[in-house]
Amino acid sequence: MEENKLRQLLDSLTWKEKVGQLVQLSGDFFHSEELTVGPKKKLGITQEIIDVVGSVLNVTGAETTRDIQEKYLMNSRHKIPLLFMADIIYGYRTIFPIPLGLGATWNPKLIKEAYEIIAKESRSAGAHVTYAPMVDLVRDARWGRCLESTGEDPQLNAHFAEAMVRGLQKEQNGHLEGIASCVKHFAAYGAAEAGREYNTVDMSERRLRQDYLSGYKSAVDAGAKLVMTSFNTYDGIPVTGNEFLLKDILREEWGFEGVIISDYAAVQELIAHGVAKDEREATLLAMNATNDIDMKTGCYANELEPLINKGEIDPKLVNDAVWRVLKLKNALGLFEDPYRGSTVIQEKENLLTEENRNLARKVAQESLVLLKNADNLLPLKPNHQKILLVGPYGDEQDLIGLWAVHGKSEDVVSIKSALEKILKQDNFSFEQGCGLLSDYQFLGEFGATKEQIGSLKMTETEKKIALKQAVEAGKKADIIIYAMGEHTMQSGEAGSRTDISLPKNQQEFIEQMVELGKKNILISISGRPLTLTKEVEQMDAIIQAWFPGTEGGNALVDILFGKVNPSGRLSMSFPENVGQLPMYYNEFKTGRPLNSSTHRGRFVTKYLDSPNAPLFPFGFGLSYGTVDYDELKLSSERMTTDLEISIRLKNQSPYECLETVQLYIQDVTGSVVRPTKELKKYQKVNLLPKEEKIITFSLDRSDLYYYMKDMRFNTETGDFLVFVGKNSNDTIQASFELI
Ligand code: BGC
Repeated sequence: MEENKLRQLLDSLTWKEKVGQLVQLSGDFFHSEELTVGPKKKLGITQEIIDVVGSVLNVTGAETTRDIQEKYLMNSRHKIPLLFMADIIYGYRTIFPIPLGLGATWNPKLIKEAYEIIAKESRSAGAHVTYAPMVDLVRDARWGRCLESTGEDPQLNAHFAEAMVRGLQKEQNGHLEGIASCVKHFAAYGAAEAGREYNTVDMSERRLRQDYLSGYKSAVDAGAKLVMTSFNTYDGIPVTGNEFLLKDILREEWGFEGVIISDYAAVQELIAHGVAKDEREATLLAMNATNDIDMKTGCYANELEPLINKGEIDPKLVNDAVWRVLKLKNALGLFEDPYRGSTVIQEKENLLTEENRNLARKVAQESLVLLKNADNLLPLKPNHQKILLVGPYGDEQDLIGLWAVHGKSEDVVSIKSALEKILKQDNFSFEQGCGLLSDYQFLGEFGATKEQIGSLKMTETEKKIALKQAVEAGKKADIIIYAMGEHTMQSGEAGSRTDISLPKNQQEFIEQMVELGKKNILISISGRPLTLTKEVEQMDAIIQAWFPGTEGGNALVDILFGKVNPSGRLSMSFPENVGQLPMYYNEFKTGRPLNSSTHRGRFVTKYLDSPNAPLFPFGFGLSYGTVDYDELKLSSERMTTDLEISIRLKNQSPYECLETVQLYIQDVTGSVVRPTKELKKYQKVNLLPKEEKIITFSLDRSDLYYYMKDMRFNTETGDFLVFVGKNSNDTIQASFELI
């Protein structure tokens, strides 16, 4: 629709109709038979508002969305289509690995392709907007939502954020071919104190800008059409009513002209936070902060019109918000086609195609991280040894993780079924051996009934039998593969934990099995870094598999048998123990470093009972080959505008290796304390067997920018260290001076 027509449309709306555009309700408001006693009553929302509501939350499927849209438009005076928004985080029907696994690919280009596919599937299924990407920087593995993030590094996160937005919002001839992206959760939600869900966030503005904002900024710069507020406070003010974050930074500094939507019920939660007395005040705070859409509360629906009528809110604020929503609908082409081409037939054709599965397999392969491989046990040769697969994830299709709302486990290739495709019956057996957990009570909080909880729990006799069978089978095997990990419900939203080791019953099972003295390989399935300290001792090899998605089983088998050489690198440090958290590689220098020459023994920064170092550092991941790094060279010892840095890579092995070469810097002296290391550049480099390559990076002045003492984003002259290597810990070092 032409912009002047859209303006006329805005001008022709009554206040009630305008308010409607700013209200988002869930699907039950549109199909439920029990509307008057159910959801409507709960939020105190009138039918008049429902008739003019602007958007719907988490309803997908061509048939359902078409049906709701059609009925809605029939009753609509102005025929303004509904927007369908949904949580499509790392796959609609074809599920890719969880974002923490996507982060481990260090391959934003590939991830962009994945998100194009996600957009295509979603659009066919009637979704117009996805609440993705989630780009919250994460440093505390206790937080369950690490699952949704690409990790702990500001720069890597920014690259993934851009790739995801561009993939989702793919354009064709200047038109949006994909779906609209809503970046979330603005801002700094990942810094919840103590890793506890929904907890306070408090940090300096410098840290906020330097580390936490980069992902959102990059998504906004890439054109994300929406931003979702986060649940947390920042500097004592909940984000949904935080003018500093929403107005000053997002709208004014960054020039964001798109739609801001609150997270689920976050407007109303301003009351629980204690910054608003009632829904009226909550509405005022959120509107004044330029939060456009109220997700799933009655605040805007019931309070906004009276506030306008009494002159207590600037009508311009409301008009601007509605304008942004209408513009979004227009950009999606909804006035021309409220279904955006989604039909049941088209949906069927586009979901879970072979092409989509192939890409999911490729992404999963690159996301898997080989953490240990003693004596080059891996790769295995098919049918050379007798293999026993054990563990609760061995014959399990639930490998998609908590946030794959529209994915189906029945589409998933399990590890067992993938192994069966390449191993002969005589060489392969499976025993579950133990349950996923010994106690499933916590599922009650997520709606499981007592009966369901009871049916999951193994009785003492069942446990004994399962263990005995696994031990007997283990005696006949040469190699035992353990498919172990967290329960799906133990990570994701509201999945904070203080013990992030493998569930106790699984640990006990492993203890018994390793007694058999066979070769042991762990496949670790989790939505976060686990403390695998014990397992590193017990296992010969470990593969970190995340929740690997629809093609997870195939990708794992490709790696286990060397069809693909592992190339995943951690984008989040794996702690040695939970007491080290929060943990991140790019920590500040302290006055008493661990290896200080002035202070010795006790009086340096350290724990008395634990190393400082992680179990596996940021950037870590093995491959089947050995690649040596040497001859680190700088084009000059002094840098004015830019600098070339080269390093020689030598593949010493008979394997083709996909190496992730990482470049870090340290600003030795600044007006503000600088991190010990900061990732600046990386390249994925393919090396044929025995191949040698010189890799070159170029740094320019802006790569050295940071928020200086006076908060200007710039750099200061002086000495810098540059580190190039395989991970944040294993690097070769040189230095230069910035003049
Ligand atoms: C989550 C968001 C999500 C929203 C809508 C909230 O609980 O924090 O990430 O997009 O629900 O489902």
